[in-house]
Amino acid sequence: AALVGRRVRARRRWWRAVEVVGEFEEGCATPLGRLRQVVDALVVEMHAGLASDGGSKLKMLLTFIDTLPDGSEEGIYYALDLGGTNFRVLRVQLGGKGSMILSHKVESQPLPEELKSGTSEILFDYIASTLKNFVEREEDDSQQKTDERRALGFTFSFPVRQTSVSSGFLIKWTKGFSIEDAVGKDIARGLEEAMTTKGLNMRVAALVNDTVGTLALGHYYDQDTVAAVIIGTGTNACYIERTDAIIKCQGLLTNSGGMVVNMEWGNFWSSHLPRTSYDIALDEESPNRNDQGFEKMISGMYLGEVVRRVLQRMAQESDLFGDATQNLSVPFSLSTPIMAAMHEDDSPDLERVRQIMEQNFQMPHVPLKTRRLIIRVCDIVTRRAARLAAAGIVGILKKIGRDGSGRSRSKSQRTSVAIEGGLYTGYSNFRDYLNEAVVEILGEEVARNVILRVSEDGSGIGAALLAAAHSLDR
Ligand code: GLC
Repeated sequence: AALVGRRVRARRRWWRAVEVVGEFEEGCATPLGRLRQVVDALVVEMHAGLASDGGSKLKMLLTFIDTLPDGSEEGIYYALDLGGTNFRVLRVQLGGKGSMILSHKVESQPLPEELKSGTSEILFDYIASTLKNFVEREEDDSQQKTDERRALGFTFSFPVRQTSVSSGFLIKWTKGFSIEDAVGKDIARGLEEAMTTKGLNMRVAALVNDTVGTLALGHYYDQDTVAAVIIGTGTNACYIERTDAIIKCQGLLTNSGGMVVNMEWGNFWSSHLPRTSYDIALDEESPNRNDQGFEKMISGMYLGEVVRRVLQRMAQESDLFGDATQNLSVPFSLSTPIMAAMHEDDSPDLERVRQIMEQNFQMPHVPLKTRRLIIRVCDIVTRRAARLAAAGIVGILKKIGRDGSGRSRSKSQRTSVAIEGGLYTGYSNFRDYLNEAVVEILGEEVARNVILRVSEDGSGIGAALLAAAHSLDR
């Protein structure tokens, strides 16, 4: 009788774990109707953010970029790309009309964790030295030493209040960075000072968000590109807006009649977003509470952490993981790459999931049915993220009349969106869910003319292109 009683209790606890997942799934639901509400809420917020500063959680930041590189740019340009998991230095050789990008070289390294919370001087020093070493190696190789002051593209992927194409003040940090003295400072000047100290003869010709670099490269190859989206450590989008729609900046005149707007959509919020108790807890324990709500549901910095929180709850409410339950209690110990690796385990006995649970959480004996449940949690989190990002993309298209809902002309008008970031480029389940949801919201006929195109290394290469296009501005 004791044995039977134990079995019954064990089964009941198992069902409790299944129930936890079921409730979570319900909370994350993104049926088409809800996605449409998110699309519309985003459009409303875009209008509000364009109407006045502070009019919306969407900052809708001006970039002062009114024309994008067209292929006529020529010469050698360097760029820096800071703001994701990796820090990159790049060298791009442009051949002018007809030949375009002749070659490019990218060096990438993880940014040392301690630099994210030190001082701006330490950070800029590090960046300037890395760049200097790179330039010296490159110029030695190619014997292209020059005394001329080179124009640099600086991709700085945080919210910046631009004062020109080449200068701007940091509004706040996101993605776990917290170098307090940099907030409110001119980022381009900070870097230039460090470069001068290091004896590097360069100036920042373009200070851009990663979305803007990505748009520049996307547009360079495909003139129908109207927007760019990043889904990596963080998430954000920019797009080309008509200047007369930027109400908060009346009288803004540009040659093209348009300007690239950095939405900072990571901070978008709407009551229509499917938020669960896990999201609320994650937000409350984050250093940037009440900020970046959209980002916390979509981007790589957070997805694994949401999964960890759900697994932890399952463990607490059942004895799924036995004594090892506490191993799930360390925040951010389940990274998004680990989560993706489990999710993409297509072996019949989920051997990869078993290994990961053993290596990362010292749980050697996770049974197959529990592994299946873990995958289901990964799937719920990823699917919600991808579908919300898709709603965001359609929101932009709707705002600029490219979603097929307006005059019939737009139905057949080709529209491209450039995309970058590890979630979309490196995680096929995420990419499939996103693509699928775009078609679902737009309908097949309209979606046929909407192209989502990966713009590899676009954030950095695009900055070099923009530096080239603006190198004579000053
Ligand atoms: C964060 C930053 C934003 C950036 C995005 C993607 O949301 O605030 O500027 O574009 O991450 O890197």
